[in-house]
Amino acid sequence: MVLGFVQFGPVFGEKEQNFRVVEKLLTGCKADLIVLPELFATGYAFQSKKEAASLSEVHCEETSLFLKHIAGICNATVVGGFIERENTELYNSAMMVDATGIIGIYRKLHLFNKEKLWFSPGNRVPAVYTVKGVSIGMMICFDWIFPETCRTLALAGAQVIAHPANLVLPWAQQAMITRCLENRVFAVTANRIGREQRGEDDFTFTGQSQVTGVRGEVLALADDNAPCVLMAGIDPKQASDKSVNPYNDLFADRRNNFYSL
Ligand code: ACM
Repeated sequence: MVLGFVQFGPVFGEKEQNFRVVEKLLTGCKADLIVLPELFATGYAFQSKKEAASLSEVHCEETSLFLKHIAGICNATVVGGFIERENTELYNSAMMVDATGIIGIYRKLHLFNKEKLWFSPGNRVPAVYTVKGVSIGMMICFDWIFPETCRTLALAGAQVIAHPANLVLPWAQQAMITRCLENRVFAVTANRIGREQRGEDDFTFTGQSQVTGVRGEVLALADDNAPCVLMAGIDPKQASDKSVNPYNDLFADRRNNFYSL
């Protein structure tokens, strides 16, 4: 299976322009799974819930149509972040889409910083979806610092974690090595680059998007400030066997009597 990511710097509020940049970066690329950053079409530094709402979508609007288009061109399943609206609530969500339409949506469980002012925290158990026989789960950005997120997906059978991100702290790429090692899963962290200065906010995003292997190997790593598409070939079966040696198994050795999750 070929996993890939798109790293670029979205322009705040310019969905069409951001779609065109992603489309151009992906020209000629084929993969099984392509992950785009968190909120890849809208930008990040919202100044009010009203502003975030003005860029929000219900399920089958322009971002899902764009991802469906990209999925068709790249013969891939595509995951990307968007602002999901349900009644008066907004969620920082990611959708998984193929050429036939939406496969699933994940609502970010752990909101970062002022996201708490605009978004409601995710209210659904993270699900795992089957793509070409491979189990894939989604988490978003700051979910990395809560090991329960990745563990929950891995316990639900995920072999690959799609991880759209707008990272500003310096530790996530390293932490994803541990997330993959402790759960024996693959992960695709698709981060954005660039700087957003809006109102009193000033965010510099860290790039260094990464495909991480089940032994913590970095299989693909982007620069900290250059747009790019990178891919890595993996054998998803490596994520199915959790044994460490004849005596140890990452999941069977868990001591559930003494902790939950
Ligand atoms: C983040 O969760 N966007 C840092």
